[in-house]
Amino acid sequence: MRTFACFTALIAIALAVEPARAIDSRAMSPETNGALAPEERARLLDQALTQDERLGLLHGIFAVPILGPPILKDAVGSAGFVPGVARLGIPPLQESDASLGVANPFNVRPGQGATPLPSGLALAASWDKDAAYQGGAMIGQEAWRSGFNVLLAGGVNLARDPRNGRNFEYLGEDPLLAGTLDGAAIRGIQDQHVVSTMKHFAMNDQETSRRGLSAKIGEAALRESDLLAFELALEGGHPGAVMCAYNRVNGVYACSNDLLLNKILKGDWGFPGWVMSDWGAVHGVDDVRAGLDQQSGEQFDKDVFFATPLSDAVKGGSVPAARISDMTQRILRSMFAVGLFDHPPVKTPLDAEADAKIALRVAEEGTVLLSNPAGLLPLHHDIKRIVVIGGHADSGVLSGGGSSQVIPIGGVAVSIPMGGEGPMAPFRTMIFDPSSPVRTIKARARGAEVRFIDGAYPSAAAALAKGADAVVVFATQWMVEGEDVPDLSLPNGQDALIEAVAAANPKTIVVLETGGPVLMPWLSRVGAVVEAWYPGAKGGEAIADILFGDINPSGRLPITFPAATAQLPRPEIPGFGGADEAKLDVDYDIEGADVGYRWFAQKALKPLFPFGFGLSFTHFEYANLKIEGGDALSVSFDVRNTGARAGADVPQLYLTDAAGKDRFRLIGWDRVTIQPGETVHVMLNADLRLLGDFDEKAHCWRIDAGRYQVVLGESATDPKLRGATQITAAMLKP
Ligand code: BGC
Repeated sequence: MRTFACFTALIAIALAVEPARAIDSRAMSPETNGALAPEERARLLDQALTQDERLGLLHGIFAVPILGPPILKDAVGSAGFVPGVARLGIPPLQESDASLGVANPFNVRPGQGATPLPSGLALAASWDKDAAYQGGAMIGQEAWRSGFNVLLAGGVNLARDPRNGRNFEYLGEDPLLAGTLDGAAIRGIQDQHVVSTMKHFAMNDQETSRRGLSAKIGEAALRESDLLAFELALEGGHPGAVMCAYNRVNGVYACSNDLLLNKILKGDWGFPGWVMSDWGAVHGVDDVRAGLDQQSGEQFDKDVFFATPLSDAVKGGSVPAARISDMTQRILRSMFAVGLFDHPPVKTPLDAEADAKIALRVAEEGTVLLSNPAGLLPLHHDIKRIVVIGGHADSGVLSGGGSSQVIPIGGVAVSIPMGGEGPMAPFRTMIFDPSSPVRTIKARARGAEVRFIDGAYPSAAAALAKGADAVVVFATQWMVEGEDVPDLSLPNGQDALIEAVAAANPKTIVVLETGGPVLMPWLSRVGAVVEAWYPGAKGGEAIADILFGDINPSGRLPITFPAATAQLPRPEIPGFGGADEAKLDVDYDIEGADVGYRWFAQKALKPLFPFGFGLSFTHFEYANLKIEGGDALSVSFDVRNTGARAGADVPQLYLTDAAGKDRFRLIGWDRVTIQPGETVHVMLNADLRLLGDFDEKAHCWRIDAGRYQVVLGESATDPKLRGATQITAAMLKP
């Protein structure tokens, strides 16, 4: 049996504080001169800092003048700013949101736009690591060219509840899929010399009462689900910073959580970077002892805890001086590692055209064809009359709200204030990116009559739809940070609109622009359904490409579409409608590590559409599954395109039985583009942690010896081939 030492690693805080002195020049010599390791450069630089200079690096402001002064003159203007130390050439941290592009909150940089990527769920639906990397590189480059050196990206909270208002920023319900893609996106960002965060650590899985709720979950379940997504993203992306979350986990605030920050993140996982707080998530100086290294957006907290109170705590002896150096060095280390000293941002015009192509690729790969029973899609280019209904499709495509909101280059297409109170109310604005589906449909349906109607009155829309060769209804569901949706219905009577239109014309195609899953009471009466999510800068193009078959759809759901909220682990959202700070427990032990499709499998529930599902205009067949065991599990198989069109397929490998224990987990996938009649050979290796369970007592991943069974399928509910092999026992350190 393979064994590893499974003790919790101790954090090395062995550095004595030294008085400020001149800088050791080796610290600042650029990496091209064969410089020292980032850790060593950080250590040398830290030695040259005064204690006040160190403390100055440990807290920063929300760099938008809505909460009153001060907004420091050197701030580029966005979510965060931490002054540098000019005397020593330490640049300030210029921080901007988020995972979908460079934000411009409250128009703090007047008129400055950026390229909006499609939502995180759209990216996850591509199952494409390279697209994730390219998307990250694109937004990282835009951040750099806009003067930022930190992007508050890398959101990877698992979609435990399809009503969570921030699911659209994240990467779905599976830790392997979400963690792998997040790691690739972070790597893309950091390759542009911009530090990326990974957030929100951890269990920020609903927005209702996000500042007060306590996520109740056992350690093993936590390690096997949400934490595994973070762990994989950390391994794949090496983010310079981790942002701790607002909520509590098992009673302890995430930013005050010794277990999460010191023991797991910095200890078990050896995270060498810094932990920054979410904006307004610091609860006192004690958070320093729990592993928090930097207070962000300090205007949102009750005090600037990491300034005078922290200095007093050091003087009083409750925080060791060496811990201050540890905090500083963690920040400086990541700044060196990612190249913030050697490759500082240079304000440069954005390459809007090239960047939009990346957004287009993600949208095309992430659009999911959900239903097409009679082959209504793809539409013929010589179609005569098309009616387009609703969703502001004459102007643009929907985006999600909150800190991740990107204002597109050239301005928004439609902007609808949704109401709200207080200084953050402008976040509640529904924004459409200017990529009009009506325009792109017209461009592809050469010479056809294309009519648009807003869909406000179902009867008028139905009357116009009658007799058309195709009717495309755009249905929208807006989601925004800070709020969950109460249920999974399309809002504003859109179900009735679709019913009326489908009754008038069965050639109705529904295009969904939603933050996540919705119910479809009209499903059997429409001709096709396309899930376009929030499709970003070129959303209209991507949708038209799919409708007309210029692109063969290849997106696969990264999240289960339930048939009813009654199927969910928590049919009601705990505390829904309550205050942001309301104290409540959310019992995640109900599903534990069996999030999403695993819950559905465990309870034998039939979803509306399963995880991993998505149709194509061609067909694929799997054959020759070979499986090898022993110290590792690997499989190989063939995928053949049996249809008449080229297309991309996403074969998925699930574990179904682990040494006699019922298990259901995604353990591998690939995304392969195949020509008609062609066969490609695929090989997959499973991460051993996915075969095992986390053993809390032994503080290890435990893989039992025995027979392991897998299925290869086109979704979580569509097994095509089965295999089994013997695996030897192993204990893996966490
Ligand atoms: C969000 C973070 C974001 C921060 C700065 C917070 O409200 O939770 O995701 O990075 O604000 O805008």
